[in-house]
Amino acid sequence: MTTIFSGVQPTGTVTLGNYIGAFRQFVELQHTNDCLFCIVDQHAITVQQEPEELAKTIRSLAAIYIASGIDPKKATLFIQSEVPAHAQAGWMMQCISYIGELERMTQFKDKSAGKEGVSSGLLTYPPLMAADILLYNTDIVPVGDDQKQHVELTRDLAERFNSRYGEVLTIPDLRTPKNGARIKSLQDPLKKMSKSDPNKKGTISILDTPKDIEKKIKSAVTDSDGIVKFDVENKPGVSNLLVIESSLSGTPIQDLETKYEGAGYGAFKAGVAEAVIQHLAPIQEKYEELLASPLLDQYLDEGAEKANAIATATLNKMEAAMGLGRKRSRSK
Ligand code: AQP
Repeated sequence: MTTIFSGVQPTGTVTLGNYIGAFRQFVELQHTNDCLFCIVDQHAITVQQEPEELAKTIRSLAAIYIASGIDPKKATLFIQSEVPAHAQAGWMMQCISYIGELERMTQFKDKSAGKEGVSSGLLTYPPLMAADILLYNTDIVPVGDDQKQHVELTRDLAERFNSRYGEVLTIPDLRTPKNGARIKSLQDPLKKMSKSDPNKKGTISILDTPKDIEKKIKSAVTDSDGIVKFDVENKPGVSNLLVIESSLSGTPIQDLETKYEGAGYGAFKAGVAEAVIQHLAPIQEKYEELLASPLLDQYLDEGAEKANAIATATLNKMEAAMGLGRKRSRSK
């Protein structure tokens, strides 16, 4: 069976971008593959987090995974910091990474730009992400477009490790969705929609109320020609809204162009808002039920146990291959 691994950071609330780019792929893949989904809380602390808020966000993210359709009986859902092998293998990956290649990561450049006290964790985030993926002998990593560079680095690090220490690690492939691999900010359709965007009007959280969703989509930046047409280069705002409605409703973009022909942006935005609200309503209902249920912790405990068993076995092989501790001499 193909092994699938992906993670989401517990930072802020999950956006429509995260949902379309990542969660929907997860739900689709869980039926026919061996899936592991992680709440990557150690990645979250690469920027300072308020401890109580972080603890709440971790549980909230677990509930969002399940409310979005992840079945914890089918897929393994767990918290990164509850599997110590991630940090251990992360260190090993750091030791085979070069500072230059980490400094070239777009996400590092974006997140450190103009900041004074940049944590070294922000720079070494990609080797930890590589460890997350490689510990599970992952074949495929479903992510949004923005994580492409990190998955490519993971492949490079795995190949480097194998060529130095022997064939231990599986080289993973990337998977991005055909539609919606990079949902854009509603306020700046040239930028990706992001949890940490300080302009909350640009981001739809999947827990936003219908009223907020309507308001945000109504004030989405478009253009002045009033024609609903998919043209990313010349009409990025309109194209972004078309991608959102198309990926949530399953209606091809061409059919949406026909639906909104001559309608003007008022009716177009109202239609997109309605599609988003309709799609999110059952997820929001399930989310509230889960947060109040003891089942959530039970699922996370079971997930941690399963993940620990797999990750520890790979970590042992990596340590033996590298000559760490006494594993090599004992296995002889
Ligand atoms: N705008 C997006 N469109 C499509 N996919 C997206 N993803 C993120 N933004 C978009 C995908 O969501 C998954 C989880 O992302 P993450 O939490 O690990 O962090 P991120 O990629 O850095 O996402 P954010 O929302 O921008 O978070 P912050 O602001 O905290 O950095 C990944 O698969 C990602 O590709």
